[in-house]
Amino acid sequence: MRHVLSSSQFDRQFLDYLYQLTTTIRRFDKSREGIVYLRSLLPHKRAMLYFTQPSTRTFLSFQSACHILGITASEIRDAATSSERKGESVEDSLRTFSSYVDLIIMRSPIAGLCDRVATLLDATPRPVPIVNAGSGPDEHPTQALLDIYTLTRSLRLRGGIDGKTICMVGDLKRGRTVRSLSRLLTNYEDVKIIFASPENFRIEDDLRRALTRAGTRFEETDEFLPAIASADAIYMTRIQDEYDVGGESATDYTRFHLKASHLTSLKEDCVIMHPLPRRDELDPEIDKDPRAKYWRQERNGMWVRVAVLTMLFDVDSRVQLPDL
Ligand code: NCD
Repeated sequence: MRHVLSSSQFDRQFLDYLYQLTTTIRRFDKSREGIVYLRSLLPHKRAMLYFTQPSTRTFLSFQSACHILGITASEIRDAATSSERKGESVEDSLRTFSSYVDLIIMRSPIAGLCDRVATLLDATPRPVPIVNAGSGPDEHPTQALLDIYTLTRSLRLRGGIDGKTICMVGDLKRGRTVRSLSRLLTNYEDVKIIFASPENFRIEDDLRRALTRAGTRFEETDEFLPAIASADAIYMTRIQDEYDVGGESATDYTRFHLKASHLTSLKEDCVIMHPLPRRDELDPEIDKDPRAKYWRQERNGMWVRVAVLTMLFDVDSRVQLPDL
């Protein structure tokens, strides 16, 4: 693995391996020796976190993942504090980072920027891996990896993700997590995706085509209740109003809110997920329900990112527990 740019670069074998690797890495966290060992894996590496779009979880979990592996992390969180303010192109800024660090983890509002930068750096004498931590409304591949990890773990006693119905709710048009996760779900057998949203937040054509090409069954509906009632997992998302160009988010979305009163209509082992941050679409009352997995999902994100970093630097084979 050279870069992490899009969820379409991953196959089932990769996803199964990542699940095993992440589960093994988490076990190292249980002892002082294990934690010190993880920190000894990459102390000679430096990473740049270039996040010019707001982030809490993705930023902190990547930064923590770096710390866990001993990687020194630097950051830019606002292009206005960099030479971009002086008119430097974003490409030149990123090339500059590659002079100082061994890895660039980036989030930006510009779809396709990560791919452009990866191609540009690959042609320089100092190519460094690029990790896409969110590229506009386009992709969020590491979120999709942690979502798959959480689904696999939550469904492990029920045969895993194969054969399950996953219901995605919300702004399916501009939600990059939905787009990246849907693409990863095509790697599983006999999965059905139900996309539940108001008419103006339906998925885009490119995703429809990708699912059809992969032979993944999907359904689009604006009826919330029947969709959530038949689901083995529900993936709630917020309205992405930062991408509004003409008041699209003014739509009344309340009938797509998951409320505590809906809990009795869900399957008794339904997995409730949300990439977070949430707004009113997910009632905090639901946090107490054992089916709510979003806080675990958030923590899983850090461990999945540790696993991805070990693979990028080719030290994943050094993460083995003899008694597994
Ligand atoms: C998501 C994102 O940034 O796309 N958040 C995250 O990374 N956990 C979802 C969102 O912002 O709605």
